[in-house]
Amino acid sequence: MAVIALKCPSIEVAVVDISVSRIAAWNGDQLPIYEPGLDEVVKQCRGNNLFFSTDIEKHVFEADIIFVSVNTPTKTRGLGAGKAADLTYWESAARMIADVSKSNKIVEKSTVPVKTAEAIEKILTHNSRGIKYQILSNPEFLAEGTAIQDLFNPDRVLIGGRETPEGQKAIQALKDVYAQWVPEDRIISTNLWSAELSKLAANAFLAQRISSVNAMSALCEATGADVSQVSHAVGKDTRIGPKFLQASVGFGGSCFQKDILNLVYICECNGLPEVANYWKQVIKINDYQKNRFVNRLVSSMFNTVSGKKIAILGFAFKKDTGDTRETPAIDVCKGLLVHLQPMSPSAVKKVSVVWDAYEATKDAHGICILTEWDEFKTLDYQRIFDNMQKPAFVFDGRNVVNVDKLREIGFIVYSIGKPL
Ligand code: UGA
Repeated sequence: MAVIALKCPSIEVAVVDISVSRIAAWNGDQLPIYEPGLDEVVKQCRGNNLFFSTDIEKHVFEADIIFVSVNTPTKTRGLGAGKAADLTYWESAARMIADVSKSNKIVEKSTVPVKTAEAIEKILTHNSRGIKYQILSNPEFLAEGTAIQDLFNPDRVLIGGRETPEGQKAIQALKDVYAQWVPEDRIISTNLWSAELSKLAANAFLAQRISSVNAMSALCEATGADVSQVSHAVGKDTRIGPKFLQASVGFGGSCFQKDILNLVYICECNGLPEVANYWKQVIKINDYQKNRFVNRLVSSMFNTVSGKKIAILGFAFKKDTGDTRETPAIDVCKGLLVHLQPMSPSAVKKVSVVWDAYEATKDAHGICILTEWDEFKTLDYQRIFDNMQKPAFVFDGRNVVNVDKLREIGFIVYSIGKPL
């Protein structure tokens, strides 16, 4: 929304939320999330054509286009628990829009399961009191850490809508917004269901590439091949391409697992168990990769971490974000704690958090690198080595360190998919 405000000075953008403290933070000096470049964009537009408010009803009443961006987490209870998306927040947003609207509106929606638009349409039209709504699907493809660049220069903008004249008119209205900075040939319009499914498919394909390369990393470790060399060689094929082939401790973040589970659920509901199982495998390999990392660590350290200090470098699910939702670091730490002191609540007391990598690694027996922050590439590893217990282990879950250099210092280094 901040980027739309920046690129479209004639449009007034109001961001509303029920959380008073969150809106206060968006209006304050310290924004509530860390995202490179976002501060500048917000500070440039805020108070001009970008506003943050808790007065939801007023702004919904005034708006021509409403972007509903409430969260749709995986259901934890009831029908579809563990897979389907929980639409509670979506439904109450739709009901509120129906309650307060007095003029025709276009309602846009973020990542939601295929055919949600239909449910939303029902809620809106059955409560409409003569007001006309058009539902569009305009899924977002930005990645955290590079969000601003992704928005300034998107590969594509996708807008799905009804194939009726009113639906096409609504698509055009949203197209006109994006066309202020996105070349027209990158703005794709489809029907509603294609747009919804394309979002899930794109995330599933991306996650599948990571699980594919991570599966190869296990084979590389077993055979003496080097996964970086394999990725490089494979990615040179222009049909495959070089991006998203970085082996890791596993993918994380709030989207990949949730969207694949959702896709799996939709396949199952539509009587397609083979297709569901195919996509499930992407998540299974991801879980396997995280477990494999923990097991490798424990077995290397003479089959026990009990009484040892392990320094975890990085907890976010990727670099350049403060987001730790579904980060692989959670599973790795939980796995280590189980080995440390099986099933004991006091294990949690064994965790402490510090700001500085040198402090974290002091007197440690091993280091786990779980986020690829640039700073971990340039640490003084000699200094770290000198302050650690010996033998000093490094388990690089992101393949960021210079293995030869570290081995020269004296570390025992384990990298993903590389020979020992
Ligand atoms: C992902 C998609 O990339 C976006 O296109 C999409 O809009 C977004 O989900 C969403 O649905 O909201 P995001 O989760 O922010 O974006 O970040 P990614 O860059 O995709 O990284 C996801 C995870 O995969 C991270 O844990 C990252 O470290 C891991 N990863 C990524 C790898 O392990 N290897 C790679 O080669 C690339």
